[in-house]
Amino acid sequence: MNEAELVRIDRHVKQWLHASREFILNQMQATLNVSQKTSRRDLVTNVDKENEKLLINKIRTFSPDSQILGEEGFGDQIKNTKGWVWVVDPIDGTMNFVKQRDHFATMIALYIDGESVLGYIYDIMHDDLYSGGPSLGVFKNDQPLPKPENTALHDGLICVSGPLVLHQKLNLPAVVEQSAGLRNYGSAGIEIIHLLTGKIVSYISYLKPWDFGAGKILAESLGLAVTTVDGRPLDMLSSDFVMVATVKAQQDILPIIGSNV
Ligand code: IPD
Ligand code: CA
Ligand code: CA
Ligand code: CA
Repeated sequence: MNEAELVRIDRHVKQWLHASREFILNQMQATLNVSQKTSRRDLVTNVDKENEKLLINKIRTFSPDSQILGEEGFGDQIKNTKGWVWVVDPIDGTMNFVKQRDHFATMIALYIDGESVLGYIYDIMHDDLYSGGPSLGVFKNDQPLPKPENTALHDGLICVSGPLVLHQKLNLPAVVEQSAGLRNYGSAGIEIIHLLTGKIVSYISYLKPWDFGAGKILAESLGLAVTTVDGRPLDMLSSDFVMVATVKAQQDILPIIGSNV
């Protein structure tokens, strides 16, 4: 795809995301309708659902032949990655959204025939939009983002998702022990932003495609490694134990984390 076409798509996606942010902020004035999906730690709100509908409507109008993978189920049942595939997480960090009214993101990704094209992570409350891809480069609110330093595990902070801290089969204590310290923000999108900006050197979590779709594109475009915890490439249609890291931190973590999952 040529650059003019990429820029045209990028302009549209940013418009949708700005509309989406307005919608979310408006909805936050009213009482949220919160329900449990699989457990009390897995919530969904009316805003997750309505925001997914809003974004999917925009995508369908813009690009009717695309396949759309959305967390809340308003997209398509996707069985392959042929053609244009949009991945939508309307609110990443729903628990933060409900409990903190902060620290959550809206994420969109575009893949074509399985190849990374464009990724977007929008930190809604801070109004910071991270966008771009392998051809356009990565931007924070239209300012180019430099590649983060290739820092080793020993010298950097790491994030591990809450549920994974409790997971017995990964040797996370050894990984944390070698790092400069452990942090946890409760949103894959926000945590991947911290990698893009060089604030942490790795994020390890069990993720679904909509959790990593946008972050994978942005992170790889800035020279970060995005794989499973045993170093395999990610499958866009499957959930997995995911590690996003600087190349040095990835080399430090792979031999010690254990892959007996
Ligand atoms: C969740 C968040 C959380 C991560 C979970 C995700 P959601 O996304 O990113 O940080 O630990 O694995 O499912 O459900 O709030 O969009
Ligand atoms: Ca969810
Ligand atoms: Ca979500
Ligand atoms: Ca998510």
